[in-house]
Amino acid sequence: MRKKVTIVGAGNVGATVAHWIAAKELADIVLIDVIEGVPQGKGLDLLEAMPVEKRDVSIVGTNDYADTAGSDIVVITAGIARKPGMSRDDLLNTNFGIMCEVVGKVTAASPNAILIVVSNPLDAMAQTAFKKSGLPRERVIGMAGVLDSARFRTFIAEELKVSVENVTACVLGGHGDTMVPLSRYSTVAGIPITELIEPARLKALEQRTANGGGEIVKHLKTGSAYYAPSASTVEMVEAILKDKKKILPCAVYLQGEYGIDGLFVGVPCKLGAKGLEQVIEIKLTPEEQAALHKSAAAVKEICSVIGMA
Ligand code: NAI
Ligand code: 2OP
Repeated sequence: MRKKVTIVGAGNVGATVAHWIAAKELADIVLIDVIEGVPQGKGLDLLEAMPVEKRDVSIVGTNDYADTAGSDIVVITAGIARKPGMSRDDLLNTNFGIMCEVVGKVTAASPNAILIVVSNPLDAMAQTAFKKSGLPRERVIGMAGVLDSARFRTFIAEELKVSVENVTACVLGGHGDTMVPLSRYSTVAGIPITELIEPARLKALEQRTANGGGEIVKHLKTGSAYYAPSASTVEMVEAILKDKKKILPCAVYLQGEYGIDGLFVGVPCKLGAKGLEQVIEIKLTPEEQAALHKSAAAVKEICSVIGMA
């Protein structure tokens, strides 16, 4: 039997997540939204692309959670997105209300599902999904680090004029201005980039990574990024569905790792069939550790506003 993935929110990110999942023939898809007609229209349109793409997946667009029952993974993209001048934190109160409602409905319909949270502010929304669902931490994972490190990888590959395939990058911390791109753990064909790019230039690339979401918002004006965010989400979906044991930076509920307790923060994780299978602890310098803790403090402050700290 094919696996089933529900995507909550049929907007830019949600619909594009559906597109990548279908294109990779990873699972049957249910696309659900509060707006009547949008998930149905986008779902049917995508389904009609399948004969051309030679992919056998079912795609259902709906406003009814009954259709989502028995999902293996639920990706939550419901909420409002940033417009120019807004930070991710400006979305907090609206998306908190939406997250509480959505989590209750998806977990009732699919009690065994793994939740991948995408809505912003990411770490606080993942913390909300975890606390409101009562699921074990293995089954609530936030998507941000894959996107942030993909951005860093893009800039490194452009800088050195090498294939993106040769570049790995590590970004820790919350999905905000305080994120921690770790050049020391980023490589080109196994060579640390600190050997290849001079410090001032590296700083500039790290800074561009931290502002990566804002850079896209400035161009788009009417919303935020969705191609790279959805591709990043689907990398996590694929790692879980195929039990790949893939190491990816994800926001997960830390319980003492990196000296952080009771908070969602981005760290390297092993993803497999059980969801989060291991938090990977890497050695940090005192400066890197301080930057990670500063980022965690920023996440905690946002969580306190909604009573989720
Ligand atoms: P969008 O506005 O295109 O789509 C959001 C969709 O959610 C809309 O179709 C809306 O009708 C739906 N929605 C609202 N309330 C709902 C509810 N109660 N139940 C079901 N659906 C509901 O926004 P976009 O661009 O798709 O972004 C979605 C979210 O993802 C935003 O919060 C955005 O900030 C976040 N995001 C996070 C990223 C990350 O790295 N974690 C990257 C990109 C976006
Ligand atoms: C991004 O980083 C908006 O969080 C989203 O593009």
